[in-house]
Amino acid sequence: MRRVIPGLESSDSPLESEIAARLDRVEEELEKAVAADSDLLSATARYLLQAGGKRFRPMLVLLAGYFGDPADPRLIPGSVAIELSHLATLYHDDVIDESADRRGVPSANARWDNTVAILTGDYLFALASEMSSDLGPDVCRLLARTITVLCDGQIREVDAAGSLEQDEDGYLEVIRRKTGSLIATSCRLGGVLSDAVPEHVETLEAFGESLGLAFQLSDDIMDITSTQLELGKEPGTDMKEGVYTLPVLHALHQGPDRQELRHLLAQGAPDGERLVRALQIVRGEGSVRHARDAVAAEVRRAVGLATQLPDGAARDALVQLTRFLATRCGADPGAIDG
Ligand code: IPE
Ligand code: IPE
Ligand code: MG
Ligand code: MG
Repeated sequence: MRRVIPGLESSDSPLESEIAARLDRVEEELEKAVAADSDLLSATARYLLQAGGKRFRPMLVLLAGYFGDPADPRLIPGSVAIELSHLATLYHDDVIDESADRRGVPSANARWDNTVAILTGDYLFALASEMSSDLGPDVCRLLARTITVLCDGQIREVDAAGSLEQDEDGYLEVIRRKTGSLIATSCRLGGVLSDAVPEHVETLEAFGESLGLAFQLSDDIMDITSTQLELGKEPGTDMKEGVYTLPVLHALHQGPDRQELRHLLAQGAPDGERLVRALQIVRGEGSVRHARDAVAAEVRRAVGLATQLPDGAARDALVQLTRFLATRCGADPGAIDG
C-alpha cells in the first residue's frame, strides 16, 4: 500500500488503509472531473494531475472528517473540489512565477504557453465551483471566499517582488493568505462535511492555518536548500523571481553578508552567477536556522491546536503530519513538544 500519511510510523494502521481507499476514490473522481469537450483542454487539465502531487489537501479533508462521520459521502466531492482549486492555483502560479517545471515535469506554461495555462487554471476553478455548488451554498461560499484570500496573497507577493524593504510580517501575511487559506479551508471543510461539532470545526480551521504556514515556510526553505532532483523544479526559483522568503529576508536584514546580498539584489532579481552567490549567502547557517526555528515554532502552535481536538488515531495522524513538515526542511523536531 502507498504510504499516504507522511511521518506515520505504523504503515498498517487501519486509519491509513481507510484514508488510502478514500484517496483512491478521490483520484477516480478527479480523473472523471477534468474530462472536457475539447481534446486540448482534456489533455492540459489532465497533465499536472497525472504528473504527481502529494494530495496533501484532500488528505486533510478526509482526516478532518474523522472528527465527525468519516464515511459521509460528501467528503469525496469536497476533497475533489479542494484539489481542483489547488491545481488551478498551480497552473496560474507557474505563469506568475514564470516557472519552467512543476511536479517533476515541464510546467503547463513551458509545455504549451501562458494562454493555455491560464485557461486551464480557469477551467479547473470553474469545475471546483460547480462541484462545490452541489454541496450547498455555504460550502460554495467558503471555497469562493478562500480563493479571494488566496488571490490577495498572490498579488501581495507580486506587489512586494524585488523589494529589499519587505519585512517578516509582510512575508508572513502573504503566506498566510496564499497558502494558509486553502489548507485552513481543507481542514474546516472536513469538519463541516462530516458534521463535526462547531467548536471542533473552528479548531480544525485554526490548526489548518497554522499547518499551512509551516507548510509554506518549509517549502520556502527547501527552495533554498534542496537540489533540482529533490524539488522536481529548479532551486532558487523564488529568489530568481524577486520573491524574497524568510531565509532571504533574514540574510538581507541580519546576516553577516547582508551588504553584499543587498548589493547583489539591488541590481534586480538575481540570475546566473549572481543567483549562485546569493544562494550561497542565504544558505549560510544563520539565516536557514532562523527560518527553521520559525517552522518549529509554527509546528508547535499547530500541535497545540491539534491537542484541543478529541484524541484518537486521526488526531495522532494530524500531529505526525505536522511534525513531518519540520523534519522535511531540517527543522529540529527535538525542539517540538506536545
Ligand atoms: C505547492 O503545493 C504550492 C505551495 C503551496 C507550496 P504542494 O506542495 O502541496 O504541491 P503538490 O500538490 O504536492 O504538487
Ligand atoms: C504557492 O506559491 C502558493 C500557491 C500556488 C497559491 P509558490 O510559488 O510559493 O509555490 P511553488 O514553490 O511554485 O510550488
Ligand atoms: Mg511558484
Ligand atoms: Mg508563487
